[in-house]
Amino acid sequence: MRDRIPAVAAWAALFALATAPGWAQTAAASKGGRVEKSSFGTTKDGQPVDLYTLTNANGVVARIITYGALLTELHVPDKAGKPADVVLGFKSLDRYEGAHPYFGATIGRVANRIAKGKFKLLGQEYTLATNNGPNHLHGGLKGFDKRVWKAQPVSVGGVPAVRFTYASADMEEGYPGALTATVTYTLTHANELRLEYTAVTDKPTIVNLTNHSYFNLAGDGQGTILDHELTIMADRYTPVDDTLIPTGEIASVRGTVMDFSRATAIGARIKDVPGPAPGGYDHNYVLSHGGGVLAMSAAVRDPQSGRVLEVLTSEPGIQLYTGNFLDGTITGKAGVAYQKHAGFCLETQHFPDSINHPNFPPVVLQPGRTFKSTTVYRFSAR
Ligand code: GLA
Repeated sequence: MRDRIPAVAAWAALFALATAPGWAQTAAASKGGRVEKSSFGTTKDGQPVDLYTLTNANGVVARIITYGALLTELHVPDKAGKPADVVLGFKSLDRYEGAHPYFGATIGRVANRIAKGKFKLLGQEYTLATNNGPNHLHGGLKGFDKRVWKAQPVSVGGVPAVRFTYASADMEEGYPGALTATVTYTLTHANELRLEYTAVTDKPTIVNLTNHSYFNLAGDGQGTILDHELTIMADRYTPVDDTLIPTGEIASVRGTVMDFSRATAIGARIKDVPGPAPGGYDHNYVLSHGGGVLAMSAAVRDPQSGRVLEVLTSEPGIQLYTGNFLDGTITGKAGVAYQKHAGFCLETQHFPDSINHPNFPPVVLQPGRTFKSTTVYRFSAR
């Protein structure tokens, strides 16, 4: 049990409190964590959206809104104890309701791509929206990232946590079955943001849930992530065609620019990544642990700030996406335009287009079964 807050962490806690909106009305900092709820505005169609602020004993702060069960801010200390917000995003709801590349959002019903928006289940063909060239991407035109979720604080023993729930109707976005999904965000006192997903359905359907946070460990708006050193615990990946649909092959990363099995700067070989414009990494890695149990899957370190992000997941794959489509047209929270590679995503998931590849881990969910998935983003500094 922690009985004393180290001086640096206490400073960080005060800093976080002093920068929190409406902090003067909130309870004083305590040794335990806390959850605060405030309004984040109203959607264009009149639905109120709430903001939940989770603060742990070290002053780490995570902010999540009920729109898209979306992580808007995550303040973690560097090696000198100085906090920075390490995720990209916006300050206001209207920006999240506008066009943006899934900043911080929970993605469903099926994350990543489905070729030509078509799949077969129990002999029946389903057609989904093609919202990414010829393919379906991230749940369709109005995926889980654009829905208002219900929220309930579920803290246990002073560890701040909030559960978000979304009930997706039968045939919503073309997917069969009424599906209820939950994602619980827990901010532990070990500086881990833990995301636990569940889903149940009343008819056979397909599910693949992920979080689409863009990280920059130097801080939001602090340039690119090309010098961040990345390790992915994977010897293999799923090569893709020109529309980013897996060919079905499971290829070795050895001796290629895809190999992050040893810590390597993200930018070291990024210009040589094969594939369509605008280039960069946008690939699914086949995690060596195989999925099913929560295990270490990736690590990233920013050499300047010393911030380290470790990703643990129970999913079999991770999409490494290096913000290739960011082109300076979107300005974020810090008032800085997001240029190419301003952030990276590590989207823990089942493989893209799994439903059309019998050799990929299955994404079918049957009634009576519960889909379960856990991902942990663990922060430290060195
Ligand atoms: C995912 C995809 C990328 C891109 C982003 C959003 O990570 O794999 O190709 O579509 O979402 O821009």
